[in-house]
Order: sequence, then C-alpha cells, then structure tokens
Amino acid sequence: MRDPKTIFPHHEPESNGPKKAGRVLPLLQYQAKPNRKRASQRAEMIDEDLPLETDLDATSPQTLRARAGFIHNIFSRLAIKTAPLSSWLYDCQISLGKGVRVASHRLQLPHFPTGAPPLKVAFLSDLHYGPTSGKAANRMAWKLAREANPDVVLLGGDYLFADERGLPTLLRELQRWKFSPPSGGIYAVLGNHDYYAGKETIITTLEACGVQVLVNEAAPLPSPWKGIWIAGVDDLWHGEPDLAGTLNQTSPDACTILMAHEPDICESGLMRRVAMTLCGHTHGGQVCLPNGDPIYVPSKSGKEYSGGLYRHAGQWLFVSRGVGTVNLPIRLFAPPDIGIFEFHGRATRGARCN
Ligand SMILES: [Fe+2]
Repeated sequence: MRDPKTIFPHHEPESNGPKKAGRVLPLLQYQAKPNRKRASQRAEMIDEDLPLETDLDATSPQTLRARAGFIHNIFSRLAIKTAPLSSWLYDCQISLGKGVRVASHRLQLPHFPTGAPPLKVAFLSDLHYGPTSGKAANRMAWKLAREANPDVVLLGGDYLFADERGLPTLLRELQRWKFSPPSGGIYAVLGNHDYYAGKETIITTLEACGVQVLVNEAAPLPSPWKGIWIAGVDDLWHGEPDLAGTLNQTSPDACTILMAHEPDICESGLMRRVAMTLCGHTHGGQVCLPNGDPIYVPSKSGKEYSGGLYRHAGQWLFVSRGVGTVNLPIRLFAPPDIGIFEFHGRATRGARCN
C-alpha cells in the first residue's frame, strides 16, 4: 500500500494512540446503554493522542485535530450532560426553521459511459446521531433521500457523535431501504467521529444493512452504469488514506465518483483522475455570520471549501453541510443539507445549483 505521506505530505496516521476497537453489535437486539464514562474517556483519548499545538504547522491536519480535539473535549462533555436539552434545542431549530435543504444539481461527468441513462445519487453526510443532533433533522434527511428515489445512495461518514447510543436509530433508517433498495447500491466512507465512536462497530452495522463500506476501495456500479466506479478513501484525520491505491483499482477510462470525508483530499494531485468528489465534515462552518461566512472550518483549506458545489482541478467537488451537529446543538446561518445529483454524459443542459 502506498505510504499516505506521499499523497498527503502532512498526514500522520493514528498509530500510536490507544485505538478503541468497536464492539460487534447483534443487530436488532442492540440496546442503547447510556455510557457517559466511555464518551468522556474517548474525549480524553483524543486529547492524549494529540501533539502539542505549539509543535505543529498552524495549518497541518495535526494542528486542526488538536484544535478540534480541545473543543471537542469541552463541548462533548457539556452536550452529553445536557443531552435531552441539546436534542430538544436542535429539534426546535429544525422544526421552526426551513429544515434540511436539498442541494440539487444536474452535472455532466467526464467518461460517463456512452448510452447509459442518467445516474441519480443521494448523498448524506455527518448525521452525527447523538446528544446534539436530535431526531428531526436526520428523519427529514432520510425522508428527502427516499423521496428522491435515487439509483445510488452515498454516505459521507460521521454517523455518530461520540459513542454508540445513536446506532439503533441509524439502523432503523438503513433498514427502511431494504424494502426498496437503490438499484445501484448504498456505499459509505468513514469520518473522524467514526474512529471516536468505534470504527469496527460502524462498519459492522453498515454492512449488516447492505451498505458497502469503502475504506481505500473502489466498487464498479452494475449495469446499466458499467464504467462508473464509486471510490472511497479512509478518513484523512485518523485513518490511513490511500488515494492512489484506491484509484488504481478502477479502470483507466473509468468515470470515478470519489467519497472522502474531509475536503482536505483536494490537496492531492490525483484529483484530476476523479470525475466528481463528494465530501462532508465541515458542517458549512455550523456557526456562521449572517452573511454565511463561517467563523471556523476544520479544514486545511480553511473556508475555501466550507460547503456547496465547486470546480476544483477541473472537476466537480461537492461539500455537504451535513445533517447533524457536533459540540453545540445549534446551527447559525449554516443550514443542514443533503445532495441530490443527476449525473449524465452529455452537456444537454448546464449545471443547476439550487
Ligand atoms: Fe467529520
């Protein structure tokens, strides 16, 4: 496997810290157990595992992790202690506001197979089931995705907040797809919070629901979309991302749709080999100024790719603002969203950005 450092020069895989192995859950028999100690231990784990900020490049992933870990430590404990109030606050905001937005785009992709019908894709990211996300936003996001009747569902990581208590709800939503599964399948990547909550548990849960988890893997779509590949890299903050190895699994003339949790993937020079990249992680800043300008975005690119549709390296990049929240049970001028895309091979119409 190619050394991730050659792809991401500042990347340091999490190898020395005490990595929590996830618990394999018997599906449907899982009972949520309030476990405040485990969540706080994980918060400490994040903190202990991080180098001193003063030793680091101010924009390196390590520094961003250190900052995020520090903030996470403080607010995750507060959110867990006030879980019912936090959930209620976010539910109120979703119910009283405009709810979850749909970022709807019709895009031409290079190398889209000739003669193939348009491919409709639903993309959900940063569900963050847990004390800060309530129920309303996630319920609405899944409903919007089902109503779009997509050919493929893509999940961009960060399924939980900090522990496993949100898993039963996630399971219930995923099992709804069993009645009418998307013909092209459901694919997922991992995010940084999936490492905090237990990577193995997340993978086991998703796979048991028929979701194909792509950790440095690429999967070809079935007919009539042969020639389109869904690729997913490991989390850039805590995993061992191998973009070159992932893309090498596809055919040279493939139309590749890449998922990576963090938009920092844009740093790679290999992005030109990808037709479309889908990311999450930023929450659109989650707390923004009234003009929509984020106060802080946990990304090496800063606010450049905080949320929305972009052109990067001559290709499409979409960064979802996500559905849930972390640390604070509130969003300010950064509404939650899902992406609904229709990909096609002929530029009969231009990209429509809602
Ligand atoms: Fe994230």
